[in-house]
Amino acid sequence: MEEIVVVFDFGSQTAQLIARRIRELGVYCEIVRHDISKDELLKLEPAAIVLSGSPFSVFDPGHPRMDRRILDMGVPVLGICYGMQLLAEIMGGTVEKGKEGEYGPARIEVADPTGIFRDMPSSLNVWMSHGDHVTKIPEGFRTLAGTPACPISTMGGGKIYGIQFHPEVVHTPKGSDIIGNFLFNVASCKGGWTMGRFVDESVKKIKTLVGNHNVICGLSGGVDSSVTAALINRAIGDRMKAIFVDNGLLRKGEVEEIRSMFTNDYPFNFRIVDAADLFLDELKGVVDPETKRKIIGKTFIDVFYDAASDVRGAKFLAQGTLYPDIIESRSALGGPSSTIKSHHNVGGLPEDLNFELIEPLKELFKDEVRLLGKELGLPSKLLARQPFPGPGLAVRIIGEVTRDDLAILRGADLIVREEIERYDENREIWQFFAVLLPVKSVGVMGDERTYANVVALRAVTSLDAMTADWARIPYDVLGRISSRIINEVKGVNRVVYDISSKPPSTIEWE
Ligand code: XMP
Repeated sequence: MEEIVVVFDFGSQTAQLIARRIRELGVYCEIVRHDISKDELLKLEPAAIVLSGSPFSVFDPGHPRMDRRILDMGVPVLGICYGMQLLAEIMGGTVEKGKEGEYGPARIEVADPTGIFRDMPSSLNVWMSHGDHVTKIPEGFRTLAGTPACPISTMGGGKIYGIQFHPEVVHTPKGSDIIGNFLFNVASCKGGWTMGRFVDESVKKIKTLVGNHNVICGLSGGVDSSVTAALINRAIGDRMKAIFVDNGLLRKGEVEEIRSMFTNDYPFNFRIVDAADLFLDELKGVVDPETKRKIIGKTFIDVFYDAASDVRGAKFLAQGTLYPDIIESRSALGGPSSTIKSHHNVGGLPEDLNFELIEPLKELFKDEVRLLGKELGLPSKLLARQPFPGPGLAVRIIGEVTRDDLAILRGADLIVREEIERYDENREIWQFFAVLLPVKSVGVMGDERTYANVVALRAVTSLDAMTADWARIPYDVLGRISSRIINEVKGVNRVVYDISSKPPSTIEWE
């Protein structure tokens, strides 16, 4: 049995971040519901337990609790924020509502540089985010650190610790070291876990879950769905069937690239469904961006289901949902924060699925998925692909989508990609593409007056697509792109550069 640490999810949005920090320290970690029973937990044989924070207060009626008997198992426990308050509440300490709370940076004075504070300085910068706090520690505990506003900001008794601050966030600079001390110093973890082990564990779980059934996987050609398909293929081989829907809204050469990638570079069982005509017919005459998106979403589901129904014995549907996709919609395990924001249909699929969902990446962050892809041996050209929206070029043609306009945009987009890939060798630009505007302008070519399309160039830097800035591309690169588009793409006589940041603009134009 592998060494495993479990995080109890009390509904905090940082439960996944705690798990990620533990994995970064080389210890395998899983998140479980906060109300897991002692018997279920015993089956996992955890080396340590971490209790997450929560949007609830211990004063809320029906606040999330845990099986009290778990604290008598002798397994080291670290309660963070609400986790600490819950420990105090159930072990006989006292929690009080703070008058003002304590939010943001704070400095704790460490009374005892042992245990989780081993090798730490006597004073530490930490990140706080709490209203309630512990005012009396349970019997057998000691106060290990405090701030003026929260004199008991760390308590410890035997191998049970409670900390009021958040060691998992980057604003607590020594946070990872504190978690590391808990794992290695208090809980005597051995560490040494790697992404390779994640592959082994996931393969085992997928095999057990799927049994003799088949799995369908929606493949978009992006990093997340490709890594999902590769992982499931590793587990069950040809019983995973990937379906790629060609919606006619893809970039030049894209279908061929995908075909070659999964036939030659990284072969697995997959099928391309050509539905271009259907999508383009459905989009005829449609101008409104939201209506376009809805039509594409619905058509995708129809086509995908149709293709999936051909796969005999398919009981499961795999999706490449990542943790950030669900971070605001629900707690990853259906914990108490279930509906902070209701963007349901995270994967764009209806709720009345005839399939059971498998989402093997749902606890991972994007950079972890790239590492996983590398571990699975996926080609680096695939792992480095820039994000591409589900509705494809339809949201980059402003107004009605026609076959002629798609041809113009594909030509311009290819030039943008070629020139920026040549200039941006270190891949510092997050996304770069062309947008076809519903505007015509006058130009002159030779001695002829032209009246033709305008293409906008969009290139942004970003870390996570939540915010973005326009890329400061050198004038000569911009000049080359403009001149190539105007000379090589028939129907374009003007190129403009979009210099808006997100917010207030967005990355895509629709
Ligand atoms: P915006 O335009 O909202 O885009 O700043 C943020 C990021 O999301 C991508 N994007 C989408 N991805 N389906 C997707 O899978 C979509 O409908 C969609 N719309 C935008 C966009 O390319 C950028 O990376």
